[in-house]
Order: sequence, then C-alpha cells, then structure tokens
Amino acid sequence: MSQPATLPSAKLKGPHSDAVVYLNGAHVSSWIPKGQKDVLFMSGQSHLQPGKAIRGGVPIIFPWFGGRANHPESPAHGFARTLIWNFVQCEQRPSGGCALTLELNSDKVTHEVWPFDFNLRFTICAEKTLTMSLAVTNTGGQEFTFEEALHTYLAVGDVRQASISGLAGTTFIDKVDGFKRKPQGPEPIVITGETDRVYLATKSECVINDPVWGRKIFVAKENSDATVVWNPWIAKAKAMADFGDEEWPGMVCVETCNCADHAITLGAGKTHVMTAVVGVK
Ligand code: BG6
Repeated sequence: MSQPATLPSAKLKGPHSDAVVYLNGAHVSSWIPKGQKDVLFMSGQSHLQPGKAIRGGVPIIFPWFGGRANHPESPAHGFARTLIWNFVQCEQRPSGGCALTLELNSDKVTHEVWPFDFNLRFTICAEKTLTMSLAVTNTGGQEFTFEEALHTYLAVGDVRQASISGLAGTTFIDKVDGFKRKPQGPEPIVITGETDRVYLATKSECVINDPVWGRKIFVAKENSDATVVWNPWIAKAKAMADFGDEEWPGMVCVETCNCADHAITLGAGKTHVMTAVVGVK
C-alpha cells in the first residue's frame, strides 16, 4: 500500500519484507512480506496529521486502554499514539532485515495528563515476521500502573468468512454487552456483528484463518496477558469519521495487550517489555 506523504515516515526495506513507520505515534502502517498483500489494514479515511490517531496499522496504546477511569476528559487509548516519537537507532539484523527503534519520554505535555516519568522504546523489526517490542521504563521515583496495547489492525479478504483460533476456553469482557464477563467456547471465533472483547489471561498465539485471501496470519506474543478482538461492523463504522462506511469487512483487530485485570504496576527504575510477532503461515 502506498502511504500519502503528509507525515514523516520511515520505510524499512529488507530481503523478506518491507514496512512503513510514522514518527507520529511510532505507528507501523504497513508490513508487506515478499509476495503477499499488506498484512496490516489501513483505512483510506484515516487522519494523517500530527496529533491525530492513525486509523489502521498498529497504534500504540499507553498508558490507559479505552476510556481512562474517572477521567472523561482524557483521550481514549492514552497519548502515545498521537505524540511524535524520536529516532534512536536503526540496525541491520543478520537476516538482512532492519530494526528501527523510536522513543518517547515524559515531558510537560504528558505531565499535564499523567503525572509520571517514563521512557518508552519501541523496536520494529521487519524480517520474515514483523516483531514489535514496547519497553516501558519507570524513570521516576514512585511506582505507577499502566495499560498498554499494540492495537494491530489485520487485513482480511472478508471478516465474515474469517475465523480466529487461540482463545478457546478463556473468559472475555464483552464491551458491547455492558462489560459482562463471558466464557469463550471451544470453537474458533467468527465475527457476526459488532465485536469488542477483552480476552483475559490469554498468552497464546492467535491464528486468523482467511479463506478468501488463502492465508493464515498469526499473532504471537511475550509478556502480554490480554488479547482484544475488535471489529466495528456496520453502524459503528458509519459513525466513525476516520473509517470508511464499507471498510469493516476488510479488517479485524487482534491486539496484544496488558489491560483491565492485567494492568501493569512498575516500580521506580524498572522496565517492562511486551512483544508482538506477526507473520503469515
Ligand atoms: C478497541 C477498543 O481496542 O479500539 C474499542 O476495544 C474501540 O472499544 C476501538 O472502539 C477503536 O478505538 P479508537 O479510539 O481508535 O476509535
């Protein structure tokens, strides 16, 4: 997918795959393994402006997921996805792929909404897989609690025909049914309506079987205890200004998270690293 050049971005080109990363939000917007369609969905209606969230790709969610408890004035999904991150390094890996590291530090702007000191480092490695690691360091003198997600929008031929395995037998919070906790059955998940679920205590790899495009996308992870599955379906898609009315069949989010029951409390000087690995089987 070609990206409009309205925001500064980096292109990672390697023998096995190419990726595009915006400095706005350290946002991976495209990952194309050789011979494949883009694995990441990007909305044609997305804002591509400084300070606005990008619709598609991999938004980084930090330090809260969704609405912030007791703070209706705070932006949904935190501030990491809308701030400009700084370049740290780009290094070639033995595979020939390259790994780009960007960082975000607490400052006056972040202190206005969240009073803690932190350093975030996000490393994106485009090889046979797309490996993304988010390291959160508490650079202040007191512990803090945060939520995080790599909010991965996956491109599928038709979400109605796709299925997601890897979450069988778990419990999820159903955000479209009053946040009720429900058991997930043994069958793979099939999306049949608006879906917004936080799967708890889920460390396993998920596989998205896409019979229309004849591929299986996997999302594996480390140090992540929650998985969010999201598709807006018809009405919500129409209600979102930065998402095309007819785009919802072409995507599903399978998000690598620590949120809800799995928020992380990090002591002064400590670092927590969460990793997502996306690939095509
Ligand atoms: C999902 C949330 O992760 O992101 C949903 O679970 C939310 O509740 C969706 O609607 C999109 O959020 P946003 O803020 O990017 O519109």
